[in-house]
Amino acid sequence: MTSEPATTTTPREAAPRPRALRLRSRLEDFVPFDTIPWEQQAEQLLRCRDGDGYMGLRPPARVEREVAALLERLELTPGDAILDLGCGPGMYSQRMAARGYAVTGIDIAAPVIEHARAEAAAAGLSCRYLAASFLSMDFTAEFDGAFLTNSTINHLSGDRLDELLRRVRRALKPGARFACELIIEPQGFHAQRPTETRQLFELPRSPWSDRPHRWLERKLSFPAAGERVVHHIIVPERGAPREYWSRFAMLAPEAFTARLARAGFALERWLEQDLRAPVNPDSELVWALARAE
Ligand SMILES: C[S@@+](CC[C@H](N)C(=O)[O-])C[C@H]1O[C@@H](n2cnc3c(N)ncnc32)[C@H](O)[C@@H]1O
Repeated sequence: MTSEPATTTTPREAAPRPRALRLRSRLEDFVPFDTIPWEQQAEQLLRCRDGDGYMGLRPPARVEREVAALLERLELTPGDAILDLGCGPGMYSQRMAARGYAVTGIDIAAPVIEHARAEAAAAGLSCRYLAASFLSMDFTAEFDGAFLTNSTINHLSGDRLDELLRRVRRALKPGARFACELIIEPQGFHAQRPTETRQLFELPRSPWSDRPHRWLERKLSFPAAGERVVHHIIVPERGAPREYWSRFAMLAPEAFTARLARAGFALERWLEQDLRAPVNPDSELVWALARAE
């Protein structure tokens, strides 16, 4: 009798099952409103901290320069009350408070507000932070200046944009200034053809996920509708992919000026990203500086 060598049966790993990729990935299927999960992203953003900066937000040195320029452009002096709209983890608010201003930061994502509060307390700064939407804030003539960075305003259009401008105007004292960073419609945008570009990132972590993942970013433009849309497809190593739409309503400078006027603001000037140079005709990301009438 020949003895067979004992076979060791190693349990085979279950073959990976193909992932269901049920995405609304056709161009014409885009959701015409934002689906960015601010709250969920905020938690992730806080894990993507590098020194004093956060992945996806501006580096501290740039924030520092913008803070100095904003305080000048808003014509503020220490002690004045400032409203930081969509303040995120408080990179601007904190720096302004450290210079002696009375800052209120408002953000819809509770995790960044809790984080900003804790940081301010640890640094002995008296910032006020509110976890709320700027579309439901209800201040009256409380602030000497307000600002909104990072083109967050382009996520709003139509009535929601007007609503925000009215609420900011009401929050300001007469004569106070509002600095708003936004993407303006490039010249001839409406006559252009729709476009699509794609970029794939392989990341160990990002504000989308703290595990290795791929992030496919599709940038779409819909000139006839005056829209740009970014379609984010997040494919984790394990688990189902997720997708989000980030929508940017494009406004011509004249149209934004008219909306500001309807809300009770007089546009004073358009400025480059550094808030110092007057705007150059090819720039898309610019600042509008307006005065509350
Ligand atoms: C791109 S981040 C900019 C954060 C910060 N201003 C900065 O530049 O470091 C946009 C922020 O706007 C907030 N946000 C979006 N919609 C909002 C709303 N309706 N009300 C208040 N905050 C909002 C988000 O939660 C997010 O923290």
